[in-house]
Amino acid sequence: LNKVKLSLENQSYNIFVGNSILKELPKKINSNKLERNFFVVVDESVERFHKDYINAVISQLNGRTFVYILKSGENSKSYKELNKIYSALLGNNFGRDSLLIGIGGGVTGDLSGYAAATYMRGIQLIHIPTTLLAAVDSAIGGKTGINFETKKNIVGAFYQPKFVLIDSHFLNSLPEEEFKSGMGEIIKNAFLSGPDLFDYLSKNMTKIFLRDEKVIRKIIIESVKIKASVVSQDEKESGLRKILNLGHTFAHAIETDLNFRIKHGEAVVAGIICALFLSNKVGLLEKNQLDKFLTLPLKINVPDSLKKLNVKRMYEVMKADKKNRGDEIKFVLVTDLGKILIDVSASKKDVFESIGKMQKILFG
Ligand SMILES: NC(=O)c1ccc[n+]([C@@H]2O[C@H](COP(=O)([O-])OP(=O)(O)OC[C@H]3O[C@@H](n4cnc5c(N)ncnc54)[C@H](O)[C@@H]3O)[C@@H](O)[C@H]2O)c1
Repeated sequence: LNKVKLSLENQSYNIFVGNSILKELPKKINSNKLERNFFVVVDESVERFHKDYINAVISQLNGRTFVYILKSGENSKSYKELNKIYSALLGNNFGRDSLLIGIGGGVTGDLSGYAAATYMRGIQLIHIPTTLLAAVDSAIGGKTGINFETKKNIVGAFYQPKFVLIDSHFLNSLPEEEFKSGMGEIIKNAFLSGPDLFDYLSKNMTKIFLRDEKVIRKIIIESVKIKASVVSQDEKESGLRKILNLGHTFAHAIETDLNFRIKHGEAVVAGIICALFLSNKVGLLEKNQLDKFLTLPLKINVPDSLKKLNVKRMYEVMKADKKNRGDEIKFVLVTDLGKILIDVSASKKDVFESIGKMQKILFG
């Protein structure tokens, strides 16, 4: 069992990583002296694949337990589903002395985290991420929330868990496309730190896609360390934390243009490629570095739908991004591994050309 500490001014917490470590849950709840009224939110697919595995541990919890099965999919990040959770909490007499445990991917974590942040002005929370993306990204750092009308993550709160438990056993049942989605964020993280993760990923990509447990555990730990370090320096995203958006301005525009018929991680990979080209265009990244850096995202297969992007529409989406101030689009760009610039403006022409270069290098 490995442990990464996320240090914050008001509340620090541990992220535990290991294989088949769910059984440690009761012990960790004890040693952290947490509440004993357990409201457990489980993603329905996770429940289907891992029912016995989860139940064996939940039955060991010393206290009152209620299990809420959450319908899988992004649509669950809604007020409707949030209301159902509030009703189940209230209807089953969960008070302020409750502990909400979310077992699932980013949808489960974001929704149940927001429920925990708001129910009775906040009850205790534990994240047990079961997708690679949730393990390395959404469960770390305290962003919770739901979608509203047409906007993603537009209602939410920063709310930190008491701890995060990443059990790589869950990943065995993860479909390939969900696995790839997590890899997008891991590749992004490789650009945010020194060369170690970049080199490790470059060397081990075959093993990763063969789901070599040791290699996967290693890249999760390294990724979690990077995210934890960034969040501990800038919890509320007033500056540094924006580096986590590398590739995401492009990725979000790609996802929107393709009506979300592309996996987030695939869009992130394409977005990173665009951001690298743009970094070179605006003079931040030398050509030989660009060529070297492109080799990593190019190891991931992306769908042909990226061939037919409506670049003008993408540009409008980028302009409307909630992270912008005023009319200018702000990009996160790369000068070197671990050397990231935030809030960089670029001309429309350079943005268009970067998207074109991404398409050219991917599809010729
Ligand atoms: N809070 C944050 O900082 C943050 C960061 C990144 C993304 N997000 C959010 O995370 C969400 C995406 O997360 P996600 O990719 O984990 O999506 P998800 O939670 O929808 O999970 C993806 C799919 O995998 C299934 N699944 C989950 N675990 C499984 C397992 N072990 N085996 C088999 N199937 C499993 C789910 O049922 C679902 O169908 C988005 O809503 C995004 O906005 C939040």
